[in-house]
Amino acid sequence: MYMAPTPNGMIARENYDESYVSAANWKLFVSSVKRIGNVIIGRKTFEVALKSGVFPIGGALNIVMTSSKIENRWPGRVIFVGRSPKQALKVLKDKGYKIAMVAGGSNVNSSFIKEHLIDELHLDFQPEVFGRGTPLFAGKAFDAKLQLLGVTRLSKNEVQLRYRVVKKR
Ligand SMILES: NC(=O)c1ccc[n+]([C@@H]2O[C@H](COP(=O)([O-])OP(=O)(O)OC[C@H]3O[C@@H](n4cnc5c(N)ncnc54)[C@H](OP(=O)(O)O)[C@@H]3O)[C@@H](O)[C@H]2O)c1
Repeated sequence: MYMAPTPNGMIARENYDESYVSAANWKLFVSSVKRIGNVIIGRKTFEVALKSGVFPIGGALNIVMTSSKIENRWPGRVIFVGRSPKQALKVLKDKGYKIAMVAGGSNVNSSFIKEHLIDELHLDFQPEVFGRGTPLFAGKAFDAKLQLLGVTRLSKNEVQLRYRVVKKR
C-alpha cells in the first residue's frame, strides 16, 4: 500500500480535496506506480483522479474496484473489477505481476488490511494537518502490527516511512 497522508492520518480534505499533496510527491508516486506496473484504487478515488485529469496513470495497469457498471474508455490500460480484494489481486497475478500496489482510498485500504492482504505500508507524510476529511483507513475492524523497514527524507518537510505488516491478526 502506498499513500500520502498528513501526520494526523488524513488522505483528503472534505470534498475530496487532495491539493495538500505536493507536486513533487505526486511525481514520486507516479514513478513508483510505473515501476511496479500496476495500481489498485477504489471507485471514489477513480472519480477524483478522473476529474482532476490524472487518470489513468500512464505506463501501468490501472485496476478500479467497483460494484458499479462503468464504461471502460481505456481498454488495455484500465480494468474494472468487483469489490473483492482477493479477486483484484488474482487479476494482476494472472497477468504475471508479482507485486501489487494498493493506493486508496480509505475504504479500499481498510478492505485489504482487514483481509490481511497488505505486506508493506509506504507512507509519504505531507507537512499539513486538518481535522475534517477522509482518514487513511475507513473505520473497519482490523488490527495489524508494523515493523519499520526504512525512513527516507524526501524533501525539507516530507518524510517517507516504510513498514512491513508483521502480525496480521
Ligand atoms: N492522499 C492519498 O495518498 C490518497 C490516495 C488515494 C485516494 N485518496 C483520496 O481518498 C478519497 C477516496 O476515499 P474513499 O474511501 O472515499 O473511497 P475509495 O476507497 O477510493 O472508493 C470507495 C468505493 O470503492 C468501491 N469499492 C470496491 N471494492 C471495495 C471494497 N472492497 N471496499 C470498499 N469499497 C470498495 C465502492 O464503490 P461502488 O459503490 O462503486 O462499489 C466504494 O464506494 C478521495 O478523496 C481520494 O482523493 C488520497
